[in-house]
Amino acid sequence: MSNPSLLILPGDGIGPEVMAEVRKIIDWFGDKRGVSFDVSEDLVGGCAYDKHGTPLHDDTMARAQEVDAVLLGAVGGPKYDKLDFSVKPERGLLRLRKEMDLYANLRPAQCFDALADFSSLKKDVVAGLDIMIIRELTSGVYFGEPRGIIKEGNERVGINTQRYTESEIARVARSAFEMARKRSNKVCSMEKANVMESGILWRDVVQEIHDAEYPDVELSHMYADAGAMQLTRWPKQFDVIVTDNLFGDLLSDLAAMLTGSLGMLPSASLGAPMANGRPKALYEPVHGSAPDIAGQGKANPIACILSFAMALRYSFDMGDEAARVETAVEKVLADGLRTADLLGEEGKSPVSTSEMGDAIVAALDASLA
Ligand code: NAD
Ligand code: IPM
Ligand code: MN
Repeated sequence: MSNPSLLILPGDGIGPEVMAEVRKIIDWFGDKRGVSFDVSEDLVGGCAYDKHGTPLHDDTMARAQEVDAVLLGAVGGPKYDKLDFSVKPERGLLRLRKEMDLYANLRPAQCFDALADFSSLKKDVVAGLDIMIIRELTSGVYFGEPRGIIKEGNERVGINTQRYTESEIARVARSAFEMARKRSNKVCSMEKANVMESGILWRDVVQEIHDAEYPDVELSHMYADAGAMQLTRWPKQFDVIVTDNLFGDLLSDLAAMLTGSLGMLPSASLGAPMANGRPKALYEPVHGSAPDIAGQGKANPIACILSFAMALRYSFDMGDEAARVETAVEKVLADGLRTADLLGEEGKSPVSTSEMGDAIVAALDASLA
């Protein structure tokens, strides 16, 4: 049987820096576990625009549709801020998500014990935290029509449309209930049904799917603004959170800080199963290209490495190997290794991006001893 195929899209800014550390982990699996991947690499984002005049070449899009999984670093940066909207780096990522129909974006926020002291929240609020935000990723205000900047009389008007069909809500709700059954059997759905019709439909459809197909799962509903407050007040009340595209974007960055740093949060974007039974899938850290630290060897590669672990779990049915990577990350953190983002303003002696990657590889080696 041929090796599973992986398309790697390092992207811009710190994307290539953190992806270089993932490559070390992939190589380790080939060398030490006999788990090899057919890896190809391509451009997305600003670097693709520089070469092709588009943030995602059609050939790259076609390749992404064929492989077993895509692994992406990050896109964007100040160099591209003034580009026409249609060719901005972020459009490349959004096209991947939309055309691969990756509707369920899993964003787990887990606070490793070694970092519980470092969070900006009190230790007992975050210690042991393990929640899963499921963000709808292919619809909502990110894609709704009409959209644009139009002229109305003498002034410009910016327009975006929040739009959800019931089938779009139903399928991501099912993803959340399925996930809950594998965890603590509890889902909290977040919208703003008090002010948005799309929120009313969201609440109704989630409840209907629950009552008809998942009555065993505990379901609650919360307005997303109150959800943000509750996430900082007492995040451990949640297990699975399901929410729309925009609220999920905001709430997952917020949840990142419960874990200590945006550099810690991985994600998996999953679609419907392909012919081989594997879901269409793209794995990427939640963070962006971090222009403020790019090129300095300061980036934390853990979010990207944990995203690869999610690929092992969700695309390749290698939950044990995924856990091996997660345990290796836990070990280096317990040993006190910190990239600069995990040390704060006064931080002394951070390790570099590549030192962190090397330490995780060493911890993987130790796991075989
Ligand atoms: P960002 O996530 O790039 O950075 C926010 C802050 O977090 C910065 O201070 C950065 O240094 C820090 N940070 C992020 N990742 C880190 C890591 N791995 N290690 C250490 N520190 C880290 O968000 P931003 O500054 O708002 O956006 C910068 C660019 O990235 C924009 O062009 C934006 O559109 C893009 N972006 C891309 C993605 C993606 O590719 N998935 C996600 C978010 C933002
Ligand atoms: C994310 C990012 C993206 C989003 C951007 C870069 C398109 O913020 O993945 O969280 O808004 O979805
Ligand atoms: Mn975001």
